[in-house]
Amino acid sequence: MKNLLTVKDLSLNEINKIFSLAAELKEKQKKGISHKILEGKTLGMIFAKSSTRTRVSFEAGIYQLGGQGIFLSSNDIQLGRGESISDTAKVLSRYIDGIMIRTFEQSDVEGLAQYGSIPIINGLTDLYHPCQALTDLFTVKEKKGELKGLKMSYIGDGNNMANSLLIACAKVGMDISIATPEDYKLNDKVIEAARIIAQNSGSQIQVLIDPLEAIKGSDVVCTDVWASMGDEDEAEERKNAFVNYQVNNEAMALANDDAIFMHCLPAHRGEEVTTGVIDGDQSVIFDQAENRLHVQKAIMAILIK
Ligand code: CP
Ligand code: NVA
Repeated sequence: MKNLLTVKDLSLNEINKIFSLAAELKEKQKKGISHKILEGKTLGMIFAKSSTRTRVSFEAGIYQLGGQGIFLSSNDIQLGRGESISDTAKVLSRYIDGIMIRTFEQSDVEGLAQYGSIPIINGLTDLYHPCQALTDLFTVKEKKGELKGLKMSYIGDGNNMANSLLIACAKVGMDISIATPEDYKLNDKVIEAARIIAQNSGSQIQVLIDPLEAIKGSDVVCTDVWASMGDEDEAEERKNAFVNYQVNNEAMALANDDAIFMHCLPAHRGEEVTTGVIDGDQSVIFDQAENRLHVQKAIMAILIK
């Protein structure tokens, strides 16, 4: 494992290794046991989009591991003025030990990995959000035990989260039903890749239009905002298109009684999820948000040498 560009590139062994190290680091942090395994290491954190969780959990995480994070807004570095991805990758590789990048194009993340000589971590693109999807499965594992045989449903936009959860569930053998409006389906290539992965893992994949059909019998119910970063201009149009894709009490009643509700956050209460559900007993959103820290510390510890 040299980079984390998408969950597609990880083997099941690598995913399990991330999860067990994350659990170990979480326990050490809770007990106040020092775990400065990246002493003297530096992580560059390039952001071309906003962030609360990713920014703070990576920066706090590298600090807790004994290293240091450098926040690089893409508006402040020359990348934002047209310096190439390849030159940026080559230059930064001379200074620091790893890069986390949040940006629009997946190809930019791949370009950094291609031209740089240090590990690259995808902190969200329009196509994928691997750190979040891995954290989500780690959280499900904590709450439910084994992942194989469980059913996740995802209701809403066929966006970066939907793509990443589909691939991640397929990898670990978890069943997943995704429901999106007709005009907001997932990327066809991602569905095709997930189906191939699922043939090996035994994961059952359903790609649907009907949200209630998807949610039926789920152990985990997930959703995400209707308009992702970059889609803000379409927010009003999307509110109409997604009106039947709200996770509310009626929808949750179709899931298993002990189902948990997850959301990567930030959430728009009253749109993709009601206040009753997101702030209710089945919601695990803050444990999920916390786990970004532990899972990403494991990812950094594995990648950065
Ligand atoms: N879930 C997530 O990535 O949140 P931020 O946009 O706040 O980083
Ligand atoms: N789909 C959302 C996820 C935010 C963490 C977005 O891309 O804005």
